[in-house]
Amino acid sequence: MNVKKIWLVLVLLLSPIVSVELVLADRDEHEYEEEHGFFSRWYRSDSMLVEGEDSSRYREECGSCHFPYQPGFLPEASWRLVMSGLEEHFGENAELSDYETDFILNYLTQNAAETLKGEISRKVIWSIRSKQPPIRITETDFFKHEHDEIAPRVLYNNGEKIQFSNCDSCHTRAIQGAFNEHEIEIPGYGPWDD
Ligand code: HEC
Ligand code: HEC
Repeated sequence: MNVKKIWLVLVLLLSPIVSVELVLADRDEHEYEEEHGFFSRWYRSDSMLVEGEDSSRYREECGSCHFPYQPGFLPEASWRLVMSGLEEHFGENAELSDYETDFILNYLTQNAAETLKGEISRKVIWSIRSKQPPIRITETDFFKHEHDEIAPRVLYNNGEKIQFSNCDSCHTRAIQGAFNEHEIEIPGYGPWDD
């Protein structure tokens, strides 16, 4: 094949990919997700969804007191710290059997921020850089930066302060891994309008 022919073949091969991307970029994200859940999640690389059998055990064990945070919000070193101190876990006893602890630690480290390619995880890693690994997501510079536009008064609902650690209080589709700004509703305040 000469160079011209190689180019032609390349263009023919790539054109369907390019057009799918354009169509996707054009369509309403929600509409698309309803029709093609899996595909659009794959397409949206910033989605924090983690699926599979291991994740259901994680959700069961670590989602009973609070939202089961997606492992991609913290680096591996942070998850090791969290999992090594479960008997004194933020003032609660969240101890598990050795087997469960190993199982969940394995799940967390395999899906930790440095192993995911999504934009959120990359920003998390970058925001921690050489600092000590945090044991809270809400303590990372990434988290603080994303939430610093929320005025303190917005955080009160009927006199009660909304805790940032309850991600799903505001991110209506947090459990599906969707944290984008169009799917936020703050209790007592309403939809977030940037
Ligand atoms: C017995 C209840 C309980 C269980 C079970 C539990 N936690 Fe927690 N967890 C807490 C409390 C209480 C806090 C502090 C919440 C706050 O400050 O608003 C917390 C906070 C956290 C935070 C920090 C959240 C932030 O502020 O960024 C992480 C991370 C965390 N838990 C991980 C886990 C993991 C992993 C498991 C499962 C091994 C787990 N938790 C199981 C009670 C629990
Ligand atoms: C009090 C309501 C509230 C709570 C609770 C909350 N968030 Fe947010 N979050 C927001 C708002 C509002 C924004 C958008 C801020 C903006 O537009 O600049 C946001 C933005 C984000 C973003 C950036 C999304 C993007 O596409 O840029 C991420 C990621 C995120 N939050 C994760 C979390 C996690 C993880 C938790 C729990 C540990 C959490 N949030 C808890 C209100 C909240």
